[in-house]
Amino acid sequence: MITLTETIEVPRSVASCFRYVADFRTTVEWDATALEASKLTPGPIDEGSRFSVRCKAGRGHLDLTYEITELTPWQCLILEGRGRWFTVKDVITFESLADDLTRIHYVAEFTFRTGLQRLAKRLEPGFKKMGRASLKGLARALTDDNPPPEASRDTQKRDGRLTTALTCFTRYGYRRGQNTWRPMTADMTGKHVVLTGANAGLGFATAVSMLEAGAALTVVIRDPAKAVAMQHALKAETGREADHVELADLSLLAEVSALCERLHARGQSIDVLINNAGALFNDYAETAEGIERSAALLLLSPWKLTESLLPLLQDHARAARVINVVSGGMYTQKLRCDELIMTADKYNGSVAYARAKRALTVLTELWAEAWAEHNIAVNSMHPGWADTPGVQTALPGFRRVTKRVLRSPAEGADTIVWLARATEADHVSGKLFLDREPRTTHLRNRTQERPEERARLLDWLAETYSGLNLNDKG
Ligand SMILES: NC(=O)c1ccc[n+]([C@@H]2O[C@H](COP(=O)([O-])OP(=O)(O)OC[C@H]3O[C@@H](n4cnc5c(N)ncnc54)[C@H](OP(=O)(O)O)[C@@H]3O)[C@@H](O)[C@H]2O)c1
Repeated sequence: MITLTETIEVPRSVASCFRYVADFRTTVEWDATALEASKLTPGPIDEGSRFSVRCKAGRGHLDLTYEITELTPWQCLILEGRGRWFTVKDVITFESLADDLTRIHYVAEFTFRTGLQRLAKRLEPGFKKMGRASLKGLARALTDDNPPPEASRDTQKRDGRLTTALTCFTRYGYRRGQNTWRPMTADMTGKHVVLTGANAGLGFATAVSMLEAGAALTVVIRDPAKAVAMQHALKAETGREADHVELADLSLLAEVSALCERLHARGQSIDVLINNAGALFNDYAETAEGIERSAALLLLSPWKLTESLLPLLQDHARAARVINVVSGGMYTQKLRCDELIMTADKYNGSVAYARAKRALTVLTELWAEAWAEHNIAVNSMHPGWADTPGVQTALPGFRRVTKRVLRSPAEGADTIVWLARATEADHVSGKLFLDREPRTTHLRNRTQERPEERARLLDWLAETYSGLNLNDKG
């Protein structure tokens, strides 16, 4: 048997240390040998939760299945792992030394299969070294002092060429990004997140992560029938439901205003607002308020929602965050305010979608500048190409061709989650992100907007809004 014993002290509350370690998927963020980890059982982390962990082993890898056999909140975790060569029992104890100081004691006992004792003897020094490195990694992760995000040289180089930039949209781009990510250990307990479009695709994946991170979650969806299924699915996945469900058809500005009134009446300040709801409409249609629906849903709606919720975003001493989900499609378009609402005769769904997303990207930069003094970080992100119900319905041909390289919804949503959760994401505002790195907002010079168009955007939005056929302009 090989026994490793390590103790670390970290400047974090015992509860947040415990929650982070108990979700053993985080092992890839701190264990010196872990390459991949996933949760095999649905539901909240508890006794019986199982994880699959792939570890480096010489030139190859070794797959282990871990199970939590004992979980005493904030005190002790016991995990048993099984692999081809050995079983391992991890006993992890947590001791609160002060509000923000925790001692973690880690004992790992490896029992090798019969006949492998000589191998175990040979491997012992290497195992001990790895154990020390892993616990140092855990201490670093829980210290959570990552530097502010910036684009690596490689990323900047990739963004300089259309083909390499587009490759980053695929699941391979996600894998490449993942190699350099730092641990995301912030606990969102006590933070209030408002998320639109939470019942499907990227929004649902984001909702799962927000609940797992401990956030209080308000979701905005439009269909009461989908609310029931969504809550059921969230509960099955995380053991929690969204704390509040608000119903609103976000393509209708009167409904956006009514939603804001309800949120104001509730009076709960907002730490993170995620403007995610969206759709690509292949056919032209106007909303009941008399405006082309892409412009309404993808641009006027997040503009109105965010501006109206500003008092709730600046209602506390903490920094607040706004995250606008845009699209790589916006790289094809240039901001021209007069072209934001397409007419029926010239309508092209992808173009209308891309123009609205381009405008939302510019709006992100304008808000970031204007709201820096209010301590609100405003960033946009694009998810690359992810296989969601939205893509399946609106772009079946594109999906057929790209199916093998599409990201999962969780991979597409990762940067939304990171912008909402990571401590270092507070230190950057007005940027467009993909895979946790700020990216270029233009892949071609011809899409650079003229300064007059940029300066006009906010007035254009207010004028367009006041021209809508609303019953009650809130
Ligand atoms: N998937 C990708 O590859 C990709 C790429 C670039 C950008 N995006 C952006 O990512 C965001 C999420 O897209 P997704 O791919 O996850 O799409 P999705 O699977 O279709 O999910 C979109 C969500 O938005 C909601 N929504 C749509 N119209 C709404 C309305 N009028 N009022 C309220 N909610 C509405 C949907 O609700 P219902 O279920 O009721 O329709 C759903 O919850 C969108 O902003 C999209 O433009 C996605």
